[in-house]
Amino acid sequence: MVLPRSTNAQRLHGRASPQGTHHYAARFHDLAAPGHFREIPSGLAMSSIGIGTYLGEPDDATDRNYTESVVAAVEGGINVIDTAINYRFQRSERSIGEALKHLALEGYSRDEIVVCSKAGFLTPDGEMPDDVDEYFASEYLEPEIFLPEEIAAGCHCMAPRFLEDQLGRSLANLGVTNLDVFYLHNPETQIDQVPAEEFRRRIRAAFEFLESVAATGKIGAYGMATWNAFRENVQSPGYMSLAEIEAIAREVGGPDHRFRFLQLPLNLAMPEALLRPNQTVQGKTLSTVQAARALGITVVVSASLLQGQLTRNLPQHIARAVRGENDAERALQFARSVPVVATALAGMSRAEHVRANSRMVSMEPAGREEFLRVFEQQAQHL
Ligand SMILES: NC(=O)c1ccc[n+]([C@@H]2O[C@H](COP(=O)([O-])OP(=O)(O)OC[C@H]3O[C@@H](n4cnc5c(N)ncnc54)[C@H](OP(=O)(O)O)[C@@H]3O)[C@@H](O)[C@H]2O)c1
Repeated sequence: MVLPRSTNAQRLHGRASPQGTHHYAARFHDLAAPGHFREIPSGLAMSSIGIGTYLGEPDDATDRNYTESVVAAVEGGINVIDTAINYRFQRSERSIGEALKHLALEGYSRDEIVVCSKAGFLTPDGEMPDDVDEYFASEYLEPEIFLPEEIAAGCHCMAPRFLEDQLGRSLANLGVTNLDVFYLHNPETQIDQVPAEEFRRRIRAAFEFLESVAATGKIGAYGMATWNAFRENVQSPGYMSLAEIEAIAREVGGPDHRFRFLQLPLNLAMPEALLRPNQTVQGKTLSTVQAARALGITVVVSASLLQGQLTRNLPQHIARAVRGENDAERALQFARSVPVVATALAGMSRAEHVRANSRMVSMEPAGREEFLRVFEQQAQHL
């Protein structure tokens, strides 16, 4: 059974606020280690670990598991929830919606929790339809939510009408009236599909829509969630310059634009966003995380555990350099301790993993010296 969307009357109102998220952090006053909650420039207090909802089957059992996991996460000191409309064919958003309802009954208010979603990839509704083409034709093409020429790589769209439609569906799935962060999902999917000028025009049109919807308060901020774009070499065809993207946001929204979040992978096996000097901001060559800091953009890390692969068999020298009782903790400790990172996401469909990872709420993130030890140890093993 696919969980239903909420009606307007049933939704949780409002969005995360500085006051609400600090109130949430204060609930964990006795438990949370210094540095677990980080205040970002907008004033929100975000937990150093967030729950991701990407992986897993589109079935009822996984729905229930994610609902239980999200409840356990918020009860355990994690107030950042990440999803996307296409995760498990919209079912992850609905599982979160169920969890938020449950948490509201427990006394958590909407303004304590940072709820983030993404749009860009076409997705069916709950399950794979028998005739996919017929589904997208009747659901999207005939009502002109997108036009055929707006689809790239057969699966991706960032046209304003489509984003508006997807935001509406996400809010209904999540059972909320507002989102805290709305990401353009892997926009680099389109980069080699259209000429550079058209790609820029599409980003600009998307940002115009996102600025307009942020101005109404329906979303708190917007961002980009990417996989390769900001980790590539400058010469690579899929590369994107963060300063150029931010300049588009400034062109559209002025100096107080709301392009304030960047999500990308950064983990022990994928350190490029930290180490590769592939960005230029005001004439300075920087890594992507440094560029984000210089531009006032909050960084959220995805795939902190490399889709689970970093939870076992880490090399001995990493184990010596990073604190943690097991490899999952060491990998999370690394990702959340990268200077500039607000939150490191861990996908957790199982509540037992939430409870295990929540142990880190009471463990201090690594300071600069401890963090740098990873690289000293790595250098010795080259
Ligand atoms: N381009 C993008 O926008 C993008 C791409 C990738 C990811 N993301 C976001 O980032 C989130 C995190 O990435 P991810 O889910 O792909 O991968 P991940 O967080 O690196 O790894 C998730 C996997 O690790 C397992 N796990 C979690 N804690 C564990 C523990 N203590 N011990 C053993 N295994 C553990 C999970 O198992 P269970 O599920 O069984 O609990 C799951 O299989 C995603 O959920 C998504 O929200 C965004």
